Amino acid sequence: MKILFTKKPLLKIAAAVMIALPLGNATAQQPKPDARMDAFINALMKKMTVDEKIGQLNLVTSGMAITGSVTNNGVDNGIANGHIGGIFGLYGIENVRKAQQLAVKNSRLHIPLIFGLDVIHGHRTIFPIPLGMSATWDLPLIQNAAHIAAKEATAEGLNWVFSPMVDIARDARWGRISEGSGEDPFLGGKIAGAMVRGYQGTSLRNADAVIACVKHFALYGGAEAGREYNTVDMSRLQMYQDYLPPYKAAVDAGAGSIMSSFNTVDGIPSTGNKWLLTDLLRKQWGFKGFVVSDYTSLSEMTNHGLGDLPQVSAIALKAGLDMDMVAEGFLNTLKKSLQQGKVTQGEIDLACRRVLEAKYKLGLFDNPYKSLNADNERKDVFTDDNRKAARIAAEHSFVLLKNAGQILPLKKSGGTIAVVGPLADNKRDMLGTWVIAGEWEKSVSVLEGIKHMVGDNVKLLYAKGSNITDDTEFMKRLNFGPDMVSLDTRTPQEMIDEAVNTAKKADIIVAVVGESQSMSGESSSRSDISIPESQKNLLKALAKLGKPIVMVLFNGRPLTLTWENENAAAILDVWAPGTEAGNAIGEVLFGNYNPSGKLTATFPRSVGQIPIYYNHKNTGRPYTDGPTKFKSNYLDISNDPLFPFGYGLSYTSFSYSDVKLNKTNLKGNVTLTATVTITNTGSYAGEEVVQLYISDPVASISRSVKELKDFRKLKLAAGEVKEVTFSITTEQLKFYNSQLKYDWEPGEFVIQIGTNSADTHSAKVNWLK
Ligand code: BGC
Repeated sequence: MKILFTKKPLLKIAAAVMIALPLGNATAQQPKPDARMDAFINALMKKMTVDEKIGQLNLVTSGMAITGSVTNNGVDNGIANGHIGGIFGLYGIENVRKAQQLAVKNSRLHIPLIFGLDVIHGHRTIFPIPLGMSATWDLPLIQNAAHIAAKEATAEGLNWVFSPMVDIARDARWGRISEGSGEDPFLGGKIAGAMVRGYQGTSLRNADAVIACVKHFALYGGAEAGREYNTVDMSRLQMYQDYLPPYKAAVDAGAGSIMSSFNTVDGIPSTGNKWLLTDLLRKQWGFKGFVVSDYTSLSEMTNHGLGDLPQVSAIALKAGLDMDMVAEGFLNTLKKSLQQGKVTQGEIDLACRRVLEAKYKLGLFDNPYKSLNADNERKDVFTDDNRKAARIAAEHSFVLLKNAGQILPLKKSGGTIAVVGPLADNKRDMLGTWVIAGEWEKSVSVLEGIKHMVGDNVKLLYAKGSNITDDTEFMKRLNFGPDMVSLDTRTPQEMIDEAVNTAKKADIIVAVVGESQSMSGESSSRSDISIPESQKNLLKALAKLGKPIVMVLFNGRPLTLTWENENAAAILDVWAPGTEAGNAIGEVLFGNYNPSGKLTATFPRSVGQIPIYYNHKNTGRPYTDGPTKFKSNYLDISNDPLFPFGYGLSYTSFSYSDVKLNKTNLKGNVTLTATVTITNTGSYAGEEVVQLYISDPVASISRSVKELKDFRKLKLAAGEVKEVTFSITTEQLKFYNSQLKYDWEPGEFVIQIGTNSADTHSAKVNWLK
């Protein structure tokens, strides 16, 4: 019987021993040993053959959703024979029930399967892409979005999601910057924790809880040249200080699983890196869940030069990998390696135990059909409430990059607006990169959203104006799913002419432009991160009219926008907002919601500045005022980004007082308080993300010029004044020194509070041990 699976086109856009180091408290929230679980699993494992144990380590894809070139055959026989521990890419009550029945009824020991999926920014109800979600700086909102995703996913039979992706990214060429929370380790860690809590809830036994899978462990965002799957090579100091904290935060929040990354760490592929998967993750951090490889990352160790499939499988098992995604290296080679003495029974048992523990914790041994309830599928999926939450999340994720002459918000009645651009009357590209179960046909286009908002009170005109791109070679690369990007039958000039003639009749032009869905995400690296030329030509033609242009910008990454910033009156960055895109954009353009998002990744002026990030080092020859020879700068461009980390405007304005400290000389583990007064000096109610940065100008190693240490999101009515006080302890002064010891060093610290990383007020303290 072949039960699985309508082949549905997938929209997956889609060591050396270290000094023991904390990166926070090791075993903080790990669960206590569970004697009942141990007894159950001991008894079960006594009955299992070696083949059945190895079977638990085998994760296959159903064929519904694939990301690589390999699909697994014979899935149904494999289940019945006990050769499969879990399936990913399969969802829907009936599909999951059939597969689970095969495992529970037909396999010798009736061990249930675990069902995973790439639920990244929502399951059916699609939320903004993660980079957009991070721009909300709103942890409860992010946690709630993850909870809604878990509820929808469980309602369709899933119990494991391959999220959160917590890879720090400082290179906007890398398409997967869209899937993470940007460049900052502190904010990234907070978001990682919130997402894990949102997915896993208070107990994995809950009907609406899924196991989170933290990925990609580790350093995947550090790919050289921003090229997908490329080499990563970085110092231990940088790993510990800047790249590892979000993974650690997710582990501390109790994440039940971790996915190893495609890249090497210190020359050894993560999937077979014992230092990473065992010494750091388990021994130092106290991780108690299971580790799964990325899609064929086990067999890809061969290309990395680590040996043939039997060899790399043995290396990976010994390193601490528990589950092999798709490569079938464990399935097909471990038994022989055991006979040859290349792996031990103990190593196989340990991995098997960890997979069984996950199933136990989910309650699958008690009820393998847990949450397979058609009522829930109807009741909990794509509900009005979920769509409302997605709309609110989208509104909060938008970043207002420019608003000259307060052109925004637009008036809800009177006048004529020309809505132009290839993303305006477009549903397909609203959802963003990772939308396996999301149905783009159900999303709200920008044109629809604006119509909902203004009805007949404003005259709306529309013209497409350009293709997403006219470059047919580029288009082919974008079209890995059917018709993702298409060419209009008209010539580019005909389209531009139509748009210009339309815009001539309008008072204001709303230009909806930027990246389409498949321009960011996995395997979507770009060497040129500007708006495609076809759209740029449209904007240039419109700019000649001299009418105000409000740019609604879709993007899965920071883009280079120098020309746009000079020529558009306003730029609202909406990322890829999800199912409710158009409605959220309508709410914000017309002022029902005042934008409050702040960038979590620096926007360069030119791709040549990359990598560019706010928490860089000072260099021995820092750039000061203007380009000077023999300083650390460029001949042809300034060092500054176009928009710094933490930046984002509001329809209102906020003023900050100087920073008041309760003390300026401190000693030992005391608490410093830093207070600022914030005034809403404009005429709209608004929200502001108040950001606290600390600099450590003199230390035993060269430190970053500043580091984010805390933030607060506040609501202020027009004219309202609020005080914000941050409590600062020596924890926030700590860093990894050259011995990788995590501690603080006494001396002067600069406390900075402000509206973005480049615009702060500061005060100095002297803090002794
Ligand atoms: C991606 C992972 C994803 C996996 C399964 C891989 O190509 O790197 O993020 O979870 O595929 O779809």
